Amino acid sequence: MRVEKSFLKWIGSKNRIIDQLLPYLPIGESHCTRLIEPFVGAGNVFINTNYQSYIIGDSNRDLMNVYVWLYDNLALLVNTAESLFNDNLDYYEVRHLFNNCQPFDRDSVEQAARFIWLMRHCFNGICRYNKSGKFNTPKGNYKKVYFPKQELINFSNKLNSHELLMLSVDFTETLGYADYGDVIYCDPPYLSASENDSFVGYTPGGFDFIGTIALRDCLIKAVRKGAIAIVSNSDNAITRDIFSDFERYTITAPRRVAANGNRQPAKELICVLTPDML
Ligand SMILES: C[S@@+](CC[C@H](N)C(=O)[O-])C[C@H]1O[C@@H](n2cnc3c(N)ncnc32)[C@H](O)[C@@H]1O
Repeated sequence: MRVEKSFLKWIGSKNRIIDQLLPYLPIGESHCTRLIEPFVGAGNVFINTNYQSYIIGDSNRDLMNVYVWLYDNLALLVNTAESLFNDNLDYYEVRHLFNNCQPFDRDSVEQAARFIWLMRHCFNGICRYNKSGKFNTPKGNYKKVYFPKQELINFSNKLNSHELLMLSVDFTETLGYADYGDVIYCDPPYLSASENDSFVGYTPGGFDFIGTIALRDCLIKAVRKGAIAIVSNSDNAITRDIFSDFERYTITAPRRVAANGNRQPAKELICVLTPDML
């Protein structure tokens, strides 16, 4: 299968396991016409599926600002980002500008372009913030940095070719839209059995055990309304217990980054809950 690539490198991206994941997402059944993705990230599932309509959300405001510019004004975003990529800029200066923009500039095209630039130049493409909400990933060490122009164009086309709602909110709010017939795919920050093997840093608040329980409960509510829920997570005793009401399938996924440097393939869970199971 030909896998469409996102403009972003993103930790936890489903790009490399998309062919293992898609069979679990009902598509083509007459009542399953809308996909809800409350943890859309780099949008790898979004761009590799073809539902009639989408609700996509993520609590990372900087990320969703890029989505909004891709949707509203691709040319302006591409020009602004391309001029950054063509300049010989100092990583820490760009990061400083990004972190110290005026509040009214927070959702500007310049911020969106800086975010794309930072994500391509930072260490391992890790999007990490400190507790005050400042992006704090150090500089990466790259000989050549790729400007993902065609990927930005493709992504923008995808956003503009479907009925779409984009939300920069917590997953609980996105899931509030779920209704009969919706397919919900959730790819939250993974809960690991060992503390030093998980990455939860995409947003200042992080994501933890309580977040995973809250997600499970929201999904059960949505499935009671007639939606179908699919969740990815790491495969361990804790996640198996949290999602014990779901059908659970195991897949093997290549691993890009773990805090302890472990790059061995990892077992992942795909948990599925349908209305007839409740
Ligand atoms: C594993 S990534 C999703 C990757 C995506 N499936 C892909 O293939 O590109 C998890 C995402 O959840 C987002 N996130 C973390 N906490 C969240 C929350 N409470 N509500 C909504 N999104 C959240 C992060 O910003 C991150 O983009």
